[in-house]
Amino acid sequence: CMKLEIAGAEASQLAARFGTPVYVYDQNRLEERMRQFRQAFSSPLFDCHVAYASKAFCCLAMMQLVQREGLWADAVSGGELYTAMKAGFDMNNILFHGNSKTDAELEMALEAGVGTIVVDNLAEAGRLAFLSTNHPGSRTRTLLRINPGVEAHTHAYIVTADIDSKFGISITRSQEIIETCRILDEAPNLDFAGFHAHIGSQIFEPEAFAAEIDKVTAFTKEFQDQTGLQISCLDLGGGFAARYTEKDSCPPVETVCRRILEAMTEAVKRHGLSVRELIIEPGRSIAAEAGWTLYTVGSIKDTEHRRYVFVDGGMNDNIRPALYQAEYEAVLADRMDEEKSETVTVAGKCCESGDIILRNGRLQPARPGDILAVASTGAYGQSMASNYNKLPVPGTLFVKDGQARWVIRPQDLEDLIRNEEPLPEES
Ligand code: LLP
Repeated sequence: CMKLEIAGAEASQLAARFGTPVYVYDQNRLEERMRQFRQAFSSPLFDCHVAYASKAFCCLAMMQLVQREGLWADAVSGGELYTAMKAGFDMNNILFHGNSKTDAELEMALEAGVGTIVVDNLAEAGRLAFLSTNHPGSRTRTLLRINPGVEAHTHAYIVTADIDSKFGISITRSQEIIETCRILDEAPNLDFAGFHAHIGSQIFEPEAFAAEIDKVTAFTKEFQDQTGLQISCLDLGGGFAARYTEKDSCPPVETVCRRILEAMTEAVKRHGLSVRELIIEPGRSIAAEAGWTLYTVGSIKDTEHRRYVFVDGGMNDNIRPALYQAEYEAVLADRMDEEKSETVTVAGKCCESGDIILRNGRLQPARPGDILAVASTGAYGQSMASNYNKLPVPGTLFVKDGQARWVIRPQDLEDLIRNEEPLPEES
């Protein structure tokens, strides 16, 4: 009978050896995706960088892989930065993001020698300029996050009037942008290089990026004319789509990258811009499809309108169905040759009705003890995991050429109370 294999290892054997629930990454596939991006995002006209958005999945091993494959990385917190540092990541190749960076985080980034800080707003520019004076002799490159008023969600993108995003400064507030950039440009230990924008997630339509480029480059032209400041770098953000179910047909990475480079080439000519460097920040599309979650089926329960398949994990290891109504596909790892003849709801063990992994999904007829594998959980699964209901976060395996190893060990019960302090004895 046909069995699910992940990077040459049988999924059910991984489950037997390492336990469930467990996150399993196909390391070959991670590497392949990174290479695809690196190859596709290159141009004779621009210095091109692919910065992996580490929020999608961040651990020492992942950051090592990212570095090995020649990608840059984006970090959005002291924790992500720390992980990259401990992984030996070249700090020059880090972009430090966030709309609400603390002074401590900015200080940490300056101290670590982070290559680029992406500034979110006017007030932050002031704080960073001030903090950077404690680092004489250093020169940290900065970008400013702007909001170009293009928003993309799955198959639609809109040129919005949404000027109230919590991220960046809207291009409708050009005086504020100019003021912010002047602060960054004049600070003795900062270098202002250009703009960053990010228009959304799970973008299927390459034209959405072209629309973003249209807005950002037109704004850049206006900005240069008004200020005389030269923009050398544009960071176009992430949002490249990943395939979760058969409904998702993602354009190949090559197609999207080609469209971006074509649009940029054209815009730089048209506006006479001085942009020499381009950055993109894919997260999901690198990590999602390489990751699986393996569960063991517990009880099966019929209600009036539903068949529930209960598993030994749930919303604490994958919050996305509950939070975004995200859809996934699942298989029974050892019964792939059987037909998916049932419509079931795969539910987790958390005390919460919304704790669903698969709503009305097709599945082979499940029996207690079967290993159920959910596909494409590699992005924002582990990274959004919680200890709700005091459930330990499952461990994470990398599998390469049939060999599996822990890259994050599973939490145990002791881990769950590790930082807790009991009350003193009552006297
Ligand atoms: N760059 C910036 C500035 C971002 O804000 C994001 C995602 C990315 C890059 C990476 O986007 P990606 O290529 O992964 O779509 N938790 C949500 C996703 C939130 C993404 C937020 N920003 C989810 O599970 O769908």
